[in-house]
Amino acid sequence: MLSLKNVSKIYQNGSEVTHALNDVSFDIEPNKVTVILGPSGSGKSTTLNILGGMDRPTSGTVSYNGNLINTESDGQLTNYRRDIVGFVFQFYNLISNLTVSENVAISAQLKGNKYQEMTEKYLDKVGLSKRKNNFPDQLSGGEMQRVSIARALAKSPKVLLCDEPTGALDTETSQRVFKILKSSKNQDTAVVIVTHNPLVAPIADRVIHIKDGHLDKIINNPSPLEVEEVDWG
Ligand SMILES: Nc1ncnc2c1ncn2[C@@H]1O[C@H](COP(=O)(O)OP(=O)(O)OP(=O)(O)O)[C@@H](O)[C@H]1O
Ligand SMILES: [Mg+2]
Repeated sequence: MLSLKNVSKIYQNGSEVTHALNDVSFDIEPNKVTVILGPSGSGKSTTLNILGGMDRPTSGTVSYNGNLINTESDGQLTNYRRDIVGFVFQFYNLISNLTVSENVAISAQLKGNKYQEMTEKYLDKVGLSKRKNNFPDQLSGGEMQRVSIARALAKSPKVLLCDEPTGALDTETSQRVFKILKSSKNQDTAVVIVTHNPLVAPIADRVIHIKDGHLDKIINNPSPLEVEEVDWG
């Protein structure tokens, strides 16, 4: 339903040219967890930003349910980001002068969800109900990360894109978050988790390996493990 075809991305800053992605093609499916795995600098965040309509490829196409999103007007792209996509940013991107609760509510409200109910539900799921009236700079890094996860989930997005969603979390909290993300696929949602951690791969239905901006391989996993079954080391 969400598909990249022959996508390349070149960043140019002055005379410096970076080929962040080279001719990458793959599909993302609903009701499935897809893990995008690769080392630092391999192009994972670039891929996720393109899938989320926040960046456009230099060449190639991105389509959602058959509609090309990379050629759409800015207005159409805004609708896609607002109505379809939930995004967990690598560096959280919380709004610093809004409380925890407001950060989550504003996103759900954009989509017209029952936003107060959804805000409470997802803050509870990530274990942060007690911090709902705090501001982001009163939270630990891991707490901010969990707010950003609640914010993405409270929209009930059809495409949930998570960039290193447990990068700041301890093993136990990471497991809790992976369980929440994994169960999100059951609402016809395509769940995409970007990580450099190979231990995450067994929970995925599909693992897309990226190396130096190239698609290395795609592994389909017919019987993904439950989060509790994984040896987290
Ligand atoms: N806006 C930008 N301008 C110039 N170069 C960029 C830009 N964004 C990313 N890059 C470069 O593109 C390459 C891929 O970056 P990207 O952020 O996608 O990697 P990543 O796999 O997410 O890495 P990490 O695991 O460290 O987050 C890197 O070499 C990076 O320096
Ligand atoms: Mg990244």
